[in-house]
Amino acid sequence: MFVRIHLLSTTLESNKMVILRIGKSEPLRGRITIPSDKSISHRAVMLSSLAEGRSVITNFSNGADCRSTMNIFKQLGVRINEIGKKTIEIVSDKILKKSDEPLDAGNSGTTTRLISGILAGQNFDSQIIGDESLSKRPMKRIILPLTQMGAKIDSVDNHLPLTIHGQNLHGIVYHSPISSAQVKSSLLLAGLNAEGQTTVIEPLLSRNHTEIMLKYMGANVNINGNEVTVSPSVLTARDIEVVGDISSAAFFITAGLIVPGSDFVIKNVGINETRTGILDVVQRMGGGVNIINQRVVSGEECADIHVKYTDNLKGCVIEGNDIPRLIDELPVIAVLASQADGETIVKNAEDLRNKEADRITCLVTELKKIGVDIEETPDGFIVNGKSKCMLKGDAELQTYNDHRLAMSFYIAGLVCEKEIAIDGFEWTNISFPEFEELMNQLK
Ligand code: S3P
Repeated sequence: MFVRIHLLSTTLESNKMVILRIGKSEPLRGRITIPSDKSISHRAVMLSSLAEGRSVITNFSNGADCRSTMNIFKQLGVRINEIGKKTIEIVSDKILKKSDEPLDAGNSGTTTRLISGILAGQNFDSQIIGDESLSKRPMKRIILPLTQMGAKIDSVDNHLPLTIHGQNLHGIVYHSPISSAQVKSSLLLAGLNAEGQTTVIEPLLSRNHTEIMLKYMGANVNINGNEVTVSPSVLTARDIEVVGDISSAAFFITAGLIVPGSDFVIKNVGINETRTGILDVVQRMGGGVNIINQRVVSGEECADIHVKYTDNLKGCVIEGNDIPRLIDELPVIAVLASQADGETIVKNAEDLRNKEADRITCLVTELKKIGVDIEETPDGFIVNGKSKCMLKGDAELQTYNDHRLAMSFYIAGLVCEKEIAIDGFEWTNISFPEFEELMNQLK
């Protein structure tokens, strides 16, 4: 039985770059509450800003990405007051105002793509800029369909900065070539302010938080499988309590399953079906996870999750319909797979290359350094895992300025024989500033 070595985690700060050292962990035990869902937090600010009246948003995300969204709407003339540590009040007259300064989306693809849909139909021009990583990410996926709706968007070869010349838009029926909630949501938000109906049909259903929140706020939305239609609608301002982020919980679920002796409860996790691919994969691998205390909060399903160390995890195939339901969890699933007997094959996940970093090449390169048997494929990766067998560790890993890679490597560090260093750990602040604090609560 594994009992010996304790959690080791120290941060060294130099030029704001944080190098974190992490080693073998003791069993993780206790109870934590998972912080706010990033996708829902973004949408809460956007839709409340488009409604007339006052909304209070509780359990709002503290991450830098959601702060980028909030700051942009402040710049667009919406009154947003931080009335508590994670509570914001939004007072809007639903009329956005031109900003003379560029709108800075920072590192956030969701901010950029969703706001583009909103700005395309305004009666003023806007410019969206972002950081180095965001400036490399593809924007054609929204520029093309928004242009079909009548939008006028200038870009640098389909990359940021985007200059959006506000126009009168008209609805379209769009057969999206990819299953992307960012694309779908961008068009639905444009459709709120377009003439006629806007329909988006996706190959596979992506996360549906926009549709749920639009309904919650009284918009005219029809859903039929992978097809969603919105008509111009007046939104009613409503208070929103944001549930916890299953994508953040995924790091803890993985840690609990692979660190021997672990047994703990994660409270307040959103379990919207379009996001629970990770739970299905854990079940296929034979992992000890139980869903308890299920409820609905502001239109979203939510529950507590009981996680128990499982010493006989089995590899599995992850593909097709699974992918949009766990796209952000794939880096940490690679770590989970390293502790499961046999092959775990991830297919159809080529869009992972378009995230904050190329999450296929970067993940595979770094995990190999610590002894994970992992191979890159054009649309995913293959891990050959072994249960009850620690990773060698003893390497310095790069995060490529990617928050989810940073946290995935931390989890890998918990099952390494020898300590690892993670260079650029501060990128966790993008989505999950509370990550290390919560980790340290599980002792
Ligand atoms: C998001 C959708 C996903 C996801 C991202 C957040 C959203 O991107 O990777 O972290 O909030 O809509 P795609 O929809 O482009 O896959």
